[in-house]
Amino acid sequence: MSVSRESFAHVCDLVRRRSAIVLEAGKEYLVDARLGPVAKAAGLASVDDLVAHLRRCEARPEHEELARAIVEAMTTNETSFFRDVHPFTTLETVVLPELIRARARHRMLRIWCAAASTGQEPFSVAMLLCEHFPQLASWDVRIFATDINRSVLDRARSGVFRQLEVNRGLPVKMLVKYFDKRGLDWQIKPEIRELVSFQELNLLARWPLFGQQDIVLMRNVLIYFDVPTKKQILGRVRQVMANDGVLFLGGSETTMNLEDSLVGERLTGPGMIFRARKTAPRAGGTKAG
Ligand SMILES: C[S@@+](CC[C@H](N)C(=O)[O-])C[C@H]1O[C@@H](n2cnc3c(N)ncnc32)[C@H](O)[C@@H]1O
Repeated sequence: MSVSRESFAHVCDLVRRRSAIVLEAGKEYLVDARLGPVAKAAGLASVDDLVAHLRRCEARPEHEELARAIVEAMTTNETSFFRDVHPFTTLETVVLPELIRARARHRMLRIWCAAASTGQEPFSVAMLLCEHFPQLASWDVRIFATDINRSVLDRARSGVFRQLEVNRGLPVKMLVKYFDKRGLDWQIKPEIRELVSFQELNLLARWPLFGQQDIVLMRNVLIYFDVPTKKQILGRVRQVMANDGVLFLGGSETTMNLEDSLVGERLTGPGMIFRARKTAPRAGGTKAG
């Protein structure tokens, strides 16, 4: 049975206020599919019952936990190792060599993976660092991996992945080198896991002070937000990025018409990276926002 119009509107409003995720009309089936298990876990027969219960317990402490469970269930956590390939090629062949040269004196690199989901993205970056830049072993390198969803972060922290997950995008050579077999699953080795620290962070809320970031990966999350929220978040990203820092967005995301101070460059393959604008763009130039 489909969720009622009133319950759907209530869920849309809650999810948008708390996470910025926009659920458009027609997504009732998604609300049904994702919140059915939340209702069941709360001992309720339907999503309508879940919403009615949520409204009734508004002033009680359990409201917060239930509201969070609803928001988390409505996040889409699709990800894979070395997703889209090209961003990682660009990281390896262009971005990291440049930044390593620029940071040779201070020997410090900060990387923020801002919608890390179950961890494949930050672990891909960590493996890439170990594989291609062994000189960084003596540097102070940290990868901050954040997400709004606590259950995906718990999974990411465990570093355990199913066979199906390691079959997606991870070269066999890397699987053998950087993972240990654990029963039917695979666990990433401690030396890779230790490079990444996972933390809960809602992009809508206050961001912890973790210093200037050299590389920001904010991939496949802005697509869920409306234009004013994208603008606001990209403006804040620019503030936490080093002046020569680099931003990676998802394949269908851009800063164009959203944040003029971050200009896109097409490097290898279809991916784009975004750097702080140093000079005004020239007509007919190679850069695209
Ligand atoms: C589709 S996944 C992208 C994962 C990874 N970046 C990639 O491209 O493979 C989107 C992630 O954004 C997270 N997310 C959604 N809204 C968020 C918010 N307001 N703050 C932080 N993370 C959010 C979701 O929980 C989800 O794990």
